[in-house]
Amino acid sequence: MAYETILTETRGRVLLITLNRPKALNALNGQLTEELIAAVQQADADPEIGCIVITGSAKAFAAGADIKEMQSATYAEMYAGDRFSAWDRFAALRIPTIAAVAGYALGGGCELAMMCDIILAADDAVFGQPEIKLGVMPGIGGSQRLTRAIGKAKAMEMCLTGRTMDATEAERAGLVARVVPAEGLLDDALRTAETIAGMSKPIAMMTKEAVNRAYETTLTEGVRFERRVFHAMFATADQKEGMAAFVEKRPAKFQHR
Ligand code: HXC
Repeated sequence: MAYETILTETRGRVLLITLNRPKALNALNGQLTEELIAAVQQADADPEIGCIVITGSAKAFAAGADIKEMQSATYAEMYAGDRFSAWDRFAALRIPTIAAVAGYALGGGCELAMMCDIILAADDAVFGQPEIKLGVMPGIGGSQRLTRAIGKAKAMEMCLTGRTMDATEAERAGLVARVVPAEGLLDDALRTAETIAGMSKPIAMMTKEAVNRAYETTLTEGVRFERRVFHAMFATADQKEGMAAFVEKRPAKFQHR
């Protein structure tokens, strides 16, 4: 499929998606949203792809939802169109995803990064939920995911004042996995993705599901879920291969089944 607002490139078992509306700092308009979600859903279902990297430009990962596009919308349009509900399809992805963030990740841009499983930040990355300055608030999960990621104290301050966080603070607060020099960001993200894509895809999907369960349930239920999924892994060929490879002192060759 030909996309206009994103660039896609397959590198081995990794799909690299570059948000590509540079003049609008990758603001997430309807077209970009649809194209991005179509591309990631296709990769989710593709056994040949084991991990997705999403990145932006050097200046902006994404500066938010497209303000100009939604500026004059009415309540009825927002409600009837259930605006932004398409992002539920992104959040429901089972394939591991990495956000490689350089520059601005604001509003919907920060929310998109937080919907990914791992955020790698360039040292110049800036995170924020500045929607309140526009007379709105986060609309694709930011009030929930930011609070879960960094706690109420910081999330409340960021959402109520619109202040941004630099990469160092974001790492300290637990929002990002690692901060890397801007010039090495993409290489690092692709290396990380390659490592993940080299694992068994079904096992990686189950692992993602188990970690995400920690957000959704009690500790007792979460541990029970983990144990049941752990048992289920013994029905895969890749569990047999992974353990045989260890015992035979050789690298595992997963078949993703
Ligand atoms: C539409 C945007 C945009 C956005 C930037 N642009 N952000 N267009 N929607 N979110 C456009 C500008 O209008 C401008 O277009 C061009 O991109 C370059 O931006 P500048 O502002 O000139 O760049 P700069 O001075 O470097 O400032 C960068 C910036 C600023 C600090 C990131 O652009 C900014 O504050 N953007 C808005 C950030 C924000 O409020 N995000 C939250 C959006 S609401 P022209 O045509 O003038 O050159 C949101 C809701 C989420 O995300 C809930 C539902 C999804």
